[in-house]
Amino acid sequence: MTGAYRSSLAASVAALVGIGGLSYMLAGAAPSEVPRVPGVEFTPDGKLKQPVGYRRWVYVGTPLTPDDLNDGEASFPEFHAVYMDPESFAHYEKTGEFRDGTVMVKELIGAGAREATSGKGYFMGDFRGLEASIKDSARFKDEPGNWAYFSFGHKYPLKAEVAKNTAASCNACHETGAAKDYVFSQYYPVLRASAPRPR
Ligand code: HEC
Repeated sequence: MTGAYRSSLAASVAALVGIGGLSYMLAGAAPSEVPRVPGVEFTPDGKLKQPVGYRRWVYVGTPLTPDDLNDGEASFPEFHAVYMDPESFAHYEKTGEFRDGTVMVKELIGAGAREATSGKGYFMGDFRGLEASIKDSARFKDEPGNWAYFSFGHKYPLKAEVAKNTAASCNACHETGAAKDYVFSQYYPVLRASAPRPR
């Protein structure tokens, strides 16, 4: 190998590394710092597509506000089955914090039968609606707590993609009422039991 060849080879390698570094920087523009959850995607104009696969995530709890305990008109008369993406749950178990990138899904399920062989009660009926909240310090840097809230509707067929709601319509209530970082963890026994205890 001649000295000239060797130095031009070295230059090409340096150029390749340079290009690689550049494309890494371009691809790695701010938002990719926040971990992405599989099944959770945005349209190019920033709408959230209906998440897929969340029924296999970690189930954290099911609040229920039935009509008959709310003068016949609860604003959410359904069961609210709440799920958290598995990677963020693993982080929560270690730290008790909702990491950047956390996705919470709340699936609404109608209160169906009122009686079963086990007795009178509320038994789950059909799927009715879907909401989600996402913490993302890059994408939602201007939202309170960096959380954005999405509602796909309370009646099937659900919307395929939706824009985020205003902070006044969602964040505000979560900010004041939720026990932990905008999440109503006080109503999710799985989260209460999973956070590390102070020693
Ligand atoms: C009046 C207060 C209030 C408002 C307004 C509100 N929420 Fe909630 N949200 C709650 C409560 C309380 C819970 C937990 C218990 C439950 O599901 O009823 C909850 C739970 C959730 C959860 C499950 C994760 C969590 O943070 O606990 C999601 C997702 C959610 N809400 C989405 C929304 C969206 C989307 C909007 C706006 C369209 C919204 N919320 C507006 C009170 C509110």
